[in-house]
Amino acid sequence: MAWQLLILCLPFASAAVKLEEMFSWNVMDWNYPDEYSRQQAIATDALIPENALPVGIERWRNKLFVSVPRWRPGIPATLNYIPLDVPYQPSPKLIPYPSWQGNELGNCESGLNTVYRIKADKCDRLWVLDVGTYGYDPNVTNLCPYALNVYDLKTDQRIRRYVFRPEDIVPSTFIANIAVDIGSSCDDAFAYFSDELGYGLIAYSWEQNKSWRFSHSYFMPDPLVGDFNIAGLNFQWGAEGIFGITLSPIGLDGYRTLYFTPLSSHTEFSVSTRILRDESKVSGSYKDFKVVGVRGPDTHTTSKVMDNSAVQLFSLIDQNAIGCWNSALPLKPQNVGVVDKDDVGLVFPSDVKIDEGKNVWVMSDRMPVFLESELDYSDINFRIYTARLDTLLQGTVCEQQQQFIPLARIQDSKQTTVQLPYTTRTQSVTLPPTLPTFTQNEYTSNLVPNPQFTGASYPQTTHNIIPKASSYMQINMPKTPSAPYTHYRYTENKPSGRNLWWHKNYEVQENY
Ligand SMILES: *[C@@H]1O[C@H](CO)[C@@H](O)[C@H](O)[C@H]1NC(C)=O
Ligand SMILES: *[C@@H]1O[C@H](CO)[C@@H](O)[C@H](O)[C@H]1NC(C)=O
Repeated sequence: MAWQLLILCLPFASAAVKLEEMFSWNVMDWNYPDEYSRQQAIATDALIPENALPVGIERWRNKLFVSVPRWRPGIPATLNYIPLDVPYQPSPKLIPYPSWQGNELGNCESGLNTVYRIKADKCDRLWVLDVGTYGYDPNVTNLCPYALNVYDLKTDQRIRRYVFRPEDIVPSTFIANIAVDIGSSCDDAFAYFSDELGYGLIAYSWEQNKSWRFSHSYFMPDPLVGDFNIAGLNFQWGAEGIFGITLSPIGLDGYRTLYFTPLSSHTEFSVSTRILRDESKVSGSYKDFKVVGVRGPDTHTTSKVMDNSAVQLFSLIDQNAIGCWNSALPLKPQNVGVVDKDDVGLVFPSDVKIDEGKNVWVMSDRMPVFLESELDYSDINFRIYTARLDTLLQGTVCEQQQQFIPLARIQDSKQTTVQLPYTTRTQSVTLPPTLPTFTQNEYTSNLVPNPQFTGASYPQTTHNIIPKASSYMQINMPKTPSAPYTHYRYTENKPSGRNLWWHKNYEVQENY
């Protein structure tokens, strides 16, 4: 076990608490025009604040978007934002986006039902998938079909609604993650959607206004790592397939790489957008999907993002942490870092994003406690953190390695040089010569997806992401946290004023 400890300790060695808590809430609330309307909403159960769990975030200029799925009644809007150019409030109320009417439940044409993760692009568009559902397992009602909604962020108008084809969906489909691929122009745009429980990947072409669906055994969960321990709860999410997806910068061949990982898995896979953009590759492309590597033990992840220097950040839900991987290095446990960790504040990091100014945004929401147990509304349950990307990477294995290896040591030792695949100029990265070596087999022998699990023979599940109470509750569910909670973030003396740095530089450079 000594080698395991060593892996975990390496990234922590110089890690301080780098993420700054920007907003936090005991319970979410909405910004009604006046208190009378709010009281009316509460009286009619149109607003039940305790039923709201924020899941996704995205930052665009002066707006920080927050999605709240309609898993329970009393959610007035599923797509919302927090204005970043108003006086700072630690627990701001949510403002529906684009409007209250634009969030109407059951209105398939012009409303939104349930939205998970959202993506803003460089062309000032917001990509939003309405999964059309109300409620959660076993009480899910499909009010509307799956529909992609794209908004012009400069005018707050919806500029596209596209309903997925029936062939894109299977009975068990559950889609919570989205990636947006902008090519040579704003029209050269594709969006990709991971179907977690239907084990598919849907591609949508903006120009063709058309979608298609890929299937692959790499989209399936690793049956050996379906057990989760989070916030003192033990539960099994063993059916959870392809989930977190993100795109690399454009490579030398003109295409990006889509990285993906099933939720019940420690393995990372990839496929070129050269394949995904081409509808004819839906069949015959099995070997174009690649195994990238294995992150290591306790690395279940729900959300990932890669910036244009090809560093990936991802939630580490077992560790109450955000992890990193510099894709210039091979993906293996010793190249996976932890950029920050907090056993109180980062319980279930549900989303991580990097904005145009290289600021990282993280949402944590204690989701397993909300779903299975009950949140304590006298405590802070939901948090949004932010930090500069370079600050987060400092001192981790994801930083450029040559920056802290003394030259003499490099010259003295055997060097390993790998090419960064995503930059137009060729950069070489020198691996630190002193890293311990591990037997790759120890990680991979049990983790490679079983080729027997073809789409046809793999048992279809009908459950939602939300585990049924019976499977979720373990016989010996400990009521005490698996890792002792440390309260350092609570007791810390917070600065009374905020440095509102994001005010000044929210103008995004036009790239097109
Ligand atoms: C599902 O709905 C039924 C009928 O409304 C209700 O009795 C039951 O408690 C609900 N189950 C859950 C888990 O919400
Ligand atoms: C795109 O397809 C949808 C069908 O889902 C259709 O309603 C819409 O008008 C199309 N939009 C454009 C711009 O072609």
